Amino acid sequence: MKHIIIDCDPGHDDALAILTAIANRKKINILGVTTIGGNQTLEKVTANAKNILEYVDSSIPLATGQAEPLTKSLRIAPEAHGDSGMDGPYFHGEKYPIASDNAVLFMYNKIMECDHKVILVGLGPLTNIALLLKVFPQVKNKIEYISIMGGGLDHGNITPLAEFNIYVDPEAAKIIFRSDLPIVMSGLDVTEKAEITVEEIKSLQHKGRVSHLAYELLHFYNQSGRQFGFTNSPIHDLCAIAYILNPDIFSGSFYSVDVVTDGTARGLTFADKRFVSDKTKNTLVLDEVDRDKFVDLLVGALAVLDGE
Ligand code: BDR
Ligand code: CA
Repeated sequence: MKHIIIDCDPGHDDALAILTAIANRKKINILGVTTIGGNQTLEKVTANAKNILEYVDSSIPLATGQAEPLTKSLRIAPEAHGDSGMDGPYFHGEKYPIASDNAVLFMYNKIMECDHKVILVGLGPLTNIALLLKVFPQVKNKIEYISIMGGGLDHGNITPLAEFNIYVDPEAAKIIFRSDLPIVMSGLDVTEKAEITVEEIKSLQHKGRVSHLAYELLHFYNQSGRQFGFTNSPIHDLCAIAYILNPDIFSGSFYSVDVVTDGTARGLTFADKRFVSDKTKNTLVLDEVDRDKFVDLLVGALAVLDGE
């Protein structure tokens, strides 16, 4: 059994990652979900998280985190995720409860209360997780690894050089990469290979209550992705959960990774591929995925939630 906390900014792909995790509760114990301003404002992504958790009647505790990155103002992504941050499905208003603690204190308490080491999953800008490591460094002994969706060694998506999650808060990402904790980085190198086809998206329509929700999410996400040149849809954030569930469908290499925080390359992640640095090679940079098995993982999880 793995014990995880999901820090996220739903987000179509965040939502699919959360649903897949919830469907696999025999393998992973979700200690909590926390939100971070990213794809949309903190208020909007929190409303989206509430809607998703409520839709599947989850009892997972939810806490809200930082509205803004550590040093700069928030850059949102309505061009990819719409005005709500999760456009497509219609929800009937969110009643899901929110914990009174801020996400950073919430994570600290959940980690310290847990009898096992915890995997932190970062699906948005890394502000909350960076603050956790800075304010409560004692949690480091209790972290198994940090599974992030972010970065890329080859190219970016928000700038030619930078991936969105890292670009929004590179100072936070630097704290994570330099923490010496084990990190699994699902960057664009692998996540753009983790795509679902238009036919596979259509096959979810009217298949079941939760599969149909995924269809509505993916239908919008697929349409918005076309302006960026995608025919199929890379489900970026799901990689960070899929790795925990089935690491064997991925491959990658260990490097020391760092982040550029200034100039036109702000948000660029780079790896010490020549191994000249004496920093620990603490980051497993994923670069390949068995796409069919990845999609099966999602479709199977949705079927479980549909009660099939
Ligand atoms: C990442 O940015 C967000 O828009 C997605 O939710 C994902 O976390 C992809 O670059
Ligand atoms: Ca995200």
